[in-house]
Amino acid sequence: MYEYDVIVVGAGGAGLRAAIAAQEAGADVAMVTKLHPVRSHTGAAEGGINAALREGDDWELHAYDTMKGADYLADAPAAEALTQESPEEVIQLEHWGMAFSRDDDGRVSQRPFGGLSFPRTTYAGAETGHHLLHTLYEQVVKRGIDVFDEWYVLNLAVSDESQPDDRTCHGVVAYETATGNVEAFTARDGVILATGGLGQVYDHTTNAVANTGDGVAMAYRAGVPAEDMEMIQFHPTTLPSTGVLISEGVRGEGGILYNDEGERFMFEHGYAKNDGELASRDVVSRAELTEVNEGRGIEDEYVHLDMRHLGEERILDRLENILHLAEDFEGVDGLEEPMPVKPGQHYAMGGIETDEFGQTCVEGLYAVGECACASVHGSNRLGGNALPELIVFGKRAGRHAADEDLGAPRVPVGQTGDSEPGSVEPPVELGEPWAAEGAVADGGAAADTAEAVVERTLERERERVERLLERDEGTQHSDIRAAVQRTMTENVNVFREEGALKEALVDIHAARQRYRDVYVADPSSTYNTDLIQTIETRNLLDIAEMITVGALAREEFRGAHWRKQYQERRDDEWLKHTMVSWSDGSPELWYKPVVLEGEAGAYEPKERSY
Ligand code: FUM
Repeated sequence: MYEYDVIVVGAGGAGLRAAIAAQEAGADVAMVTKLHPVRSHTGAAEGGINAALREGDDWELHAYDTMKGADYLADAPAAEALTQESPEEVIQLEHWGMAFSRDDDGRVSQRPFGGLSFPRTTYAGAETGHHLLHTLYEQVVKRGIDVFDEWYVLNLAVSDESQPDDRTCHGVVAYETATGNVEAFTARDGVILATGGLGQVYDHTTNAVANTGDGVAMAYRAGVPAEDMEMIQFHPTTLPSTGVLISEGVRGEGGILYNDEGERFMFEHGYAKNDGELASRDVVSRAELTEVNEGRGIEDEYVHLDMRHLGEERILDRLENILHLAEDFEGVDGLEEPMPVKPGQHYAMGGIETDEFGQTCVEGLYAVGECACASVHGSNRLGGNALPELIVFGKRAGRHAADEDLGAPRVPVGQTGDSEPGSVEPPVELGEPWAAEGAVADGGAAADTAEAVVERTLERERERVERLLERDEGTQHSDIRAAVQRTMTENVNVFREEGALKEALVDIHAARQRYRDVYVADPSSTYNTDLIQTIETRNLLDIAEMITVGALAREEFRGAHWRKQYQERRDDEWLKHTMVSWSDGSPELWYKPVVLEGEAGAYEPKERSY
């Protein structure tokens, strides 16, 4: 049994920043992470970090762009925290030695990105995330923070009161990949989930294979609501054969999108008459797929992104990484040819419900980064707003968990008087086949001491691992995972339609049934990735159900959520967050108001055009 003040789960940008902040605030901190920190998916982030650093720009403009990009589904206090604190965090990174690209006068360079009214995206070539990750990891090493890498967190140790708001998180239980040992980590002050994205629920994604939504699924099963899960971002420029990201930085530097007829369709077909290729991502992704669906795609699948006119010198200076990716993963020389691109799953705007300090409704449980929903991005995240979210909210949560007084939050969490019940008519029973089984807390047992809660979780998780390893026949996780990825990509993609969403729920239900019979082919206790992927697949099944239920219920078109039958944003009825909670053995759907009132005033929803 290990014991610390603060346990951080995950060691990408958000986790590392949270650990540094908690340690600086005086806490004894450990990081528990399924990957070595520098293998985290933050390292794949290419484009940059938005920060209002220069004359002519300010945090209010950045906040306005963020709220508009979000199609007004973001909470203003969180969006304003991001835009107010991002400049100081960028300067902090620079002081820690991050190798930002620079202008001739020595200042950190900034470039235009989609949906921004000012060129405010700072960057390090087209490998910003790689530099960010290494800079933060150096600080963790320098501070001597304990890192348990290649330890896969199986579950949270959460008490069992009947209302989630009365529960407390006392730690986590994790599986050591090298040995197969299952151990408990007690957290005296707080557990911070920083487990990243969930892109593996789709089969065409920019996300790494490790991005399986573990934190969201674990928090959900402990009773924490998941927020706006239907809001999935599809990045417009991914390589068709692998989903590898071609950074928005290419368009920021002047790259142009063409259809099969050689038309610059973003302008010529009126998708974004002012901003063209630099409209927000939801707009560009829909435009590309409309071109393909109307017969103007290339090979009926993709469009071209051309950067040749930028010239070799500029490309090598600012986008060299893109040349390598296009060559290595698609066999295309970006200096000589246009690159084939199509939309691919990239980011989850929704996630674990938190306030603007990363607190969930469960005492002692925090979430930051992509796994969390603070909510900054609403129904569409702006490119370059993910990395500042990691560092700003990582820092805030780290300090808060280490008991620093940061004031009262303005974003409410948990069910309050303002919540309203939701309804949806799914074609199958939701939540099945795990009624209460598999939930960390279901209100079925009496409240207990911290030690008892941690012990009970440890026992339960040891039994789960044993049970999975005992079976010697059944269905392999890869078959179940592939079925879910296929149906999500076919039916819960950029364009959404009622029948298809219901079909996805039927497929997810079938996959969940098959999971009852899952077995792990590899019986070994060292580096048993088969076992870990089997457990991850269980998490993906919950994630897929949450996304699809939220999408089916939301009868409007907002940001990344396009519905065939509902072609308008319907603020009267739908200006509210979708919440899904695990309750009595099934997902409960409910809604809570959006907080539009910020320091800069109220962000009145306007028609959104680019
Ligand atoms: O296109 C990109 O470089 C991605 C940036 C982001 O998602 O923020």
